[in-house]
Amino acid sequence: MIFIKLNRHDSNSPVLHHSREKFMIMESKVVFVGAGNMAEAIVSGMISAEFCAPEKIVMTDVRPERLAEIESEYGVMTDTDNHVVKNAEIVILAVKPQVMLEVLQDIAPVLRPETLVISIAAGIPARKIEAVLGEKFRVVRVMPNTPALIGQGAAAIAAGVNADEADMEVTETILGCVGVTVRVKERDLDAVTALSGSGPAYVFYLLEGMLAAAETMGLDKAIARKLALKTVEGAARLMEDSGEEAEALRAKVTSKGGTTAAAISSLDHAGVKEAIVQALLAAQKRSVELAE
Ligand SMILES: NC(=O)c1ccc[n+]([C@@H]2O[C@H](COP(=O)([O-])OP(=O)(O)OC[C@H]3O[C@@H](n4cnc5c(N)ncnc54)[C@H](OP(=O)(O)O)[C@@H]3O)[C@@H](O)[C@H]2O)c1
Repeated sequence: MIFIKLNRHDSNSPVLHHSREKFMIMESKVVFVGAGNMAEAIVSGMISAEFCAPEKIVMTDVRPERLAEIESEYGVMTDTDNHVVKNAEIVILAVKPQVMLEVLQDIAPVLRPETLVISIAAGIPARKIEAVLGEKFRVVRVMPNTPALIGQGAAAIAAGVNADEADMEVTETILGCVGVTVRVKERDLDAVTALSGSGPAYVFYLLEGMLAAAETMGLDKAIARKLALKTVEGAARLMEDSGEEAEALRAKVTSKGGTTAAAISSLDHAGVKEAIVQALLAAQKRSVELAE
């Protein structure tokens, strides 16, 4: 039963081939510490994939009104006391990085050493989490992005020193409920943060420019929005389906002396491609700084 349902969702997940891990997830008690946007997205994905029964999920938060909202929407259990992690087999740390240390120090005395700890917080190295919880803890870090909110996320996951293959598969399967996942070395998570973590903002920035131009040219706002959004989505799909490189696809729509050539020449003249490269490098540098 579950095989069929998961297959529909993510046919590439290695967990699908190992009933032991799948069973473990189904039977595991999962506690989300922090019931914000990202935690809600993941819980929503897990429940709609029928991957985990709501009663197996507990969400904690400092705001009781937020928990009441979550409880009525998803039927999960909630608690304002983070010490409920003491009964968890999997803990997903989903608070902001600024409060992570305080949260780790609070839960460390009650967390069982066999609990798998998954952190979605940006910029907190696994070794820092292990240093507070205990050096033996199995930690997996995740860098998700906001399209996870609609099940279209792109997440990278990285193992801490003690996390094993089964832990990675479990994490992949959970994040697979809200999009695609890839595995990387932890040292690459700063680059991932710059590429896909902050990535949606670059696309929105491009759209801001496209829509501002559309307005200047006098196009109807709703029509421009519809065309621009489908253009971005369609271009991404075309690149994925064709397997071709971005440059080759761009060359195909850029005939000499044509309209696209005029636009690309203007972008090149303004140094836009180099500016994008520098922007991502700045994001990566900032990610490293924040981790320190
Ligand atoms: N959003 C993204 O695009 C994105 C991308 C990659 C990674 N992430 C990571 O995902 C994590 C969550 O992000 P988010 O956007 O979901 O943040 P969020 O919406 O602010 O969620 C965090 C929740 O935790 C609550 N909280 C604060 N202190 C707490 C405590 N001591 N115990 C339990 N809950 C507590 C917050 O309540 P208050 O609001 O009252 O403080 C809030 O409801 C962050 O670490 C972020 O780095 C996010």
